[in-house]
Parts: sequence; C-alpha cells; structure tokens
Amino acid sequence: MTAATFPLEITQTKRSGLQEVDFNNLGFGRIMSDHMFVADYDNGQWQNSRIVPYGDLSLSPATAALHYGQAIFEGMKAYRTQEGDTLLFRALDNWNRLNKSAERMCMPTIPEEIFMGGLTELIRLDSDWIPSAEGCALYIRPFMFATDPFIGVKPSDTFSFIIFTGPVAAYFAKPPRVKIETHFIRSAEGGVGGAKCAGNYAGSLYPAKLAQQEGYDQLIWTDAREHAYIEESGAMNVMFVMDGKLVTPFVSDTTLDGITRKTIVAIAHHWGIPVEERKISVDEIIKAIKEGQLESAFGSGTAAVVSHIEAIGFKGVDYELPAVKKDSFAQKVKDYLGDIYTGKAEDIFGWTLK
Ligand code: COI
Repeated sequence: MTAATFPLEITQTKRSGLQEVDFNNLGFGRIMSDHMFVADYDNGQWQNSRIVPYGDLSLSPATAALHYGQAIFEGMKAYRTQEGDTLLFRALDNWNRLNKSAERMCMPTIPEEIFMGGLTELIRLDSDWIPSAEGCALYIRPFMFATDPFIGVKPSDTFSFIIFTGPVAAYFAKPPRVKIETHFIRSAEGGVGGAKCAGNYAGSLYPAKLAQQEGYDQLIWTDAREHAYIEESGAMNVMFVMDGKLVTPFVSDTTLDGITRKTIVAIAHHWGIPVEERKISVDEIIKAIKEGQLESAFGSGTAAVVSHIEAIGFKGVDYELPAVKKDSFAQKVKDYLGDIYTGKAEDIFGWTLK
C-alpha cells in the first residue's frame, strides 16, 4: 500500500508498551498498541490528521456524543503472513460501511484517502504488534464521534475520527450458547439497526445481561413486529447450515451488513453450495433442530470470525446443537477464511491488501 498522500504529522511514542504484552494470553479488547490516528472535522472539512501515542482524550463534559450518541465505529483486522508481510482484510468495505453509518447518523463521511492513508501509516508504525499465533490478529477500531461542546439537540458541527489497534485472540473463549430474544428488540424498520452506531450496542446490554444470568453468552434478536423472524446476534450475524444449504437472514435496515457474512456467502457460492438469504422464522429453526435437520449454526463477524453456536435457548428450552464435524461447511469455511486472512491460501477474490 502507498504512504499517506495528505498532510500527516507523526509523533512517535517515547516508551513502547510492546515488551509488556503477553502474546500467549491476549484475550480480546484490553490491550492497545502504541499509536493512534486522529483527524478532526471542523468548518466542513477533515483536517489536522496526525498519528500520536495512544492515550486518553480530553473532552468537554458537554461533548455531544456523550449525550445524544452521535458515535459510530468499525471493526477490522490485520494479519501477519508466514513471510512476515501484513495483510488487511476488506478494508475498503469497512470504509464504505462507516460512511453509510455516518450518513444515517447525520455525521460527515470520511474521504478514502484519510481512512486508508491513516490506517496504512498506523499499521506500518505498529506492525510489531500484529500477533502471529493461529486465530490471533491485530484488531483495528476506527470510530467517529460528535465533539461539539453543546447540549442542545442538533447534529454536531465538529467530529473526531480516530483509529486505534490492539492484538487479539478469539472473541469467544468457548462456543457461545445463545438465547432467542422474544421480548426486547435490537432494531425496528426505519430505525438505525443497519448502522454500526454506539447506541445499538448500549441498548443490547440490559437484555444481554438478563440472558447471561440465565447462562447464555449472546442473544439472537428477532424482528420487532412479531418476534417471529431471526435477525442477527449483535456482535455477529447468524448463519445456519441445513438441508445442504447455507441459510442466513437477508440484510435489511434492521440488520448490519456484515463483511464476514458477505465473505462467507461469496465463498459458499464459489464452492457451489446453495445459499438462501431470506426471512428465517424461529419456528423453522426450532423444527429443524428437533428433526435433526440443522447441521450447524454459527455467528460471523470480524471479531467472532466463524463462531460455532453450542446451544440455542428458546422459551425456556435449551436445544443443544450437534458437535461441529471436521468436514462440515462451517469448519471448512472457518479454516479457509483463516488461510485467506494470513496469506496461506491464494486470495482469488481480491479481498486482502498487502
Ligand atoms: C466486530 O466484529 O468487529 C464488531 O464490531 C463486534 C464488536 C462489537 C466486538
């Protein structure tokens, strides 16, 4: 990738934290690399692009994002190849999706050169932070938030765009047990469910906490009208393998347009596996489990990658899913994706950027 073509000031850290990282015990989301990319939006343009040491921000208590939630983010990953190169996966798709979220949340879009240029320089600078162990990656968190120090309700005039990174292992320490939610909702038609905005995650926390008290790790959200159709899982899209087909809810304005989701759909098409992107009723899934027709259910996402679902809870009953077989679609696509991410498999789709 080329270097940034816009003015970018780089201030390197005087004290790297790299030596303190236990790469055998990364977990997810607690360890941050040395630097972050920052750009400010003011007077109708992005400016003051800089890379600075990762650190705290100083904000007015009246910062608009803290009150009215104009805040959006992305999740992406960089991997190290056996040759020591760095591969970014579908970064332009994340850039596009961030801008779609920005439009929905009345925020400015980010030019490609700022997103990609800032990202590239940041990863170049912190490339030693990319883990090489299997299943590990450098997680990248681009986000934008409203910075007007003003508590009247209106779209902010100023924003910050920041990218920071951190080495991560798998998102789930074990295959998740998920509960089909039939009371609370994540999103409704015409709402903001299709945007990757902070509020969608905030609203999910209370129902998820109740589910955790019942022994589940995640929720599967259902539609707001009837609670009859499967939507997504919040931290991941959901996919089912049944009857020799890959079946997954279609993307609408109530669900996130998952990049891993569309990657898996493309791989299934490429392998000649029938794919159905459609409405999926909860009853259909429960019936398929009861009749032994559900081969597997899994979540897909940047953080989750392909996460096999161990059990599905519905109306007080836990349905244990069959163990994942080595030659199942879910396992094969997980392995193949891992190989594309890390350059072991040729990227015939053109998804990776070196
Ligand atoms: C991701 O997969 O990167 C996500 O954004 C999920 C995140 C909420 C952990």
